[in-house]
Amino acid sequence: MRMYDIIDKKRLGLKLTKEEIAFFINGYTDGSIPDYQASAFLMAIAINGMDVEETTELTLLMAQSGEMLDLSVIKGVHVDKHSSGGVGDKTTLIIGPMVAALGVPVAKMSGRGLGHTGGTIDKLESIPGFNTSLSKETFYNNVNSIGLAVAGQTANLAPADKKLYALRDVTATVSSIPLIAASIMSKKLAAGADVIVLDVKTGSGAFMKTVESAKELARRMVDIGNNAGRKTYAVITDMNDPLGKAVGNALEVMEAIEALNGKGDKKLMEVVYRLASYMVFGAGKAESIDKAREMLEETITSGKALKVFADFVKAQGGDDRYVYDPSLFKLGTVCEDLKCDVSGYIKDIRSDEVGIASLILGAGRETKDSVIDPGVGLIIKKKTGDRVEIGETLATIYGNNTEKVKEASVRLRNSFDIGNDKTEPYKIIYDVVE
Ligand code: URA
Repeated sequence: MRMYDIIDKKRLGLKLTKEEIAFFINGYTDGSIPDYQASAFLMAIAINGMDVEETTELTLLMAQSGEMLDLSVIKGVHVDKHSSGGVGDKTTLIIGPMVAALGVPVAKMSGRGLGHTGGTIDKLESIPGFNTSLSKETFYNNVNSIGLAVAGQTANLAPADKKLYALRDVTATVSSIPLIAASIMSKKLAAGADVIVLDVKTGSGAFMKTVESAKELARRMVDIGNNAGRKTYAVITDMNDPLGKAVGNALEVMEAIEALNGKGDKKLMEVVYRLASYMVFGAGKAESIDKAREMLEETITSGKALKVFADFVKAQGGDDRYVYDPSLFKLGTVCEDLKCDVSGYIKDIRSDEVGIASLILGAGRETKDSVIDPGVGLIIKKKTGDRVEIGETLATIYGNNTEKVKEASVRLRNSFDIGNDKTEPYKIIYDVVE
């Protein structure tokens, strides 16, 4: 078999066999296939696509390029949740404890964020002492005793994806749906869960800018998951406006704690309940999505989910006093309110611009080596559809550098589109793919 022939076959738009895809993945992972051939192959896929069968083979081979986690030492049906990424997305911090409180084990491998805000791991590390470098034994033990553990993704989880993603990033092949689907699902399959719930975001702050493209990606990932023997659901959610109010690491943990205390933002909680309901239903703990939601609501009103969160923080070395008294979090000392300079209705808040404002403050990483400032970020005080008057506060900014706060403030003001006509808020959930 020659890589040249495989590239040529995909260039002609023909379907590849499992053996041909394996030849590529194995050869690229062990270094015998050079970057220039891999680049040409990725571009042929980006242009001519892959069908579900080909994408499933590609995903499985990418997953099997490294360690496949065996979660059988954890009792129960294992569920995992993945978000395609968004601004202010702290859903994992709320969903994990809620679902675990219902006896559904959550063993989560999570990444650090490269982008506007940190990832789940970065957010959790804003709690003093919180440790995500767990040994496998501690990881499994914590899931068995508390129901929830979050650890940093090991380097050996789908290494083929790591290598391919770096190449896609510089060859204009990131946006190909089969390649995105294989990339995300290879890591999910390797992480070992029986049930996978995907939050596919759409809108200005998301990877997928249109609902149609989000649906196409969702469909493909659900097909791959089901073909691989994992029960998979995808919920398509809005990422035009930022999710909830807080953007920034400690600020998002504080908002998650507020939500676990029953005071969550309406849109944020709608997304939380929908995703969590599919996790509980998929794990067989509820006979319907409605029943799952009812059970989940009870984990909040009873305080059970908050207790699981506190136990989880403590078990991973974090100071659990922060969970019961979030005022302990040290926020940026340069605090500024962004005041509204016109009266009218908020027509849109561009999440991508809000994300850049938080990046300027230091809440995210510009490069792999950037160091995150956990206490900086912003709180959005007005949402799309709201009436605003001159002088009202649109958002509060927390930084540690006056110049950066000024720069972020200009960027943030530009993210608010204010006009004379009342606009309806965006939908929250667009569709569910089962
Ligand atoms: N996230 C991933 O993990 N992979 C992609 O290709 C895109 C988003």
